[in-house]
Amino acid sequence: MSDLFLSLDAGIAAILERALPVLHELDRPRMLDLGCGSGVLAIGCARAMPTLEIVAMDISQANCDATSLAIREAQLEDRIRVVCADYLRWSTEPFDLVASDGVLQLIESDNKSLARKLANDLKPDGVMLATLPSASTANNVRQFARHIWRRTPKAADGLALAVAKVVYPKIDPAVLAGRVPYMRCVPVRRYDSGFRTAFADAGLDFEFDIPVESTSIAKFDHRLIGFKKR
Ligand SMILES: C[S@@+](CC[C@H](N)C(=O)[O-])C[C@H]1O[C@@H](n2cnc3c(N)ncnc32)[C@H](O)[C@@H]1O
Repeated sequence: MSDLFLSLDAGIAAILERALPVLHELDRPRMLDLGCGSGVLAIGCARAMPTLEIVAMDISQANCDATSLAIREAQLEDRIRVVCADYLRWSTEPFDLVASDGVLQLIESDNKSLARKLANDLKPDGVMLATLPSASTANNVRQFARHIWRRTPKAADGLALAVAKVVYPKIDPAVLAGRVPYMRCVPVRRYDSGFRTAFADAGLDFEFDIPVESTSIAKFDHRLIGFKKR
């Protein structure tokens, strides 16, 4: 793995590594970072590819503000636009690539509606790259643990961040800080056969799914998945 990826969260690094070859084949590619968080993936892709135009979108105003600030600091305002909206209620021109790290499991809808929306937002031959939790026994245990963690006071997040900084010194503290609140989120979907069927029915062909290196026993095991619009 190149030095560019070393300080990143494993999911973002895995998406970046797969996204760049897809984008490099295109003339003036357009990419959506769906659920951009603090904008790490969008900024990483923009830095790696000077002709790329990006929309970074998120449902959280606080996350959109953090992304806008990071974009200004990186002087990438001319190539990354930030949109604050609920993905399912947002209309857009189609993209060459929709990339999404750790978000699809949080979008509250059935698989069919999500698959149709993603298919609609991709150009023909457009690619979706995403990480999301897999359907595994270990993830069943984590799901149960999340239900319990949700009941602890929010102040416990500070302690969790302090521990994470010690345990994961190579990961950017801003990335860790952005992640801790999501320990309270319980996935509404996982990557399973129902997910794949809904995507195939919506015109999204399966390309690959591979495990993402796990950085923590508390984090759900994720798969990096790739689908292509027919
Ligand atoms: C676990 S965070 C991942 C953030 C970022 N992709 C990363 O890898 O650092 C999930 C993100 O998805 C966003 N999100 C959740 N539901 C969404 C929705 N319906 N539309 C857009 N963004 C959403 C959250 O606000 C949050 O920023």
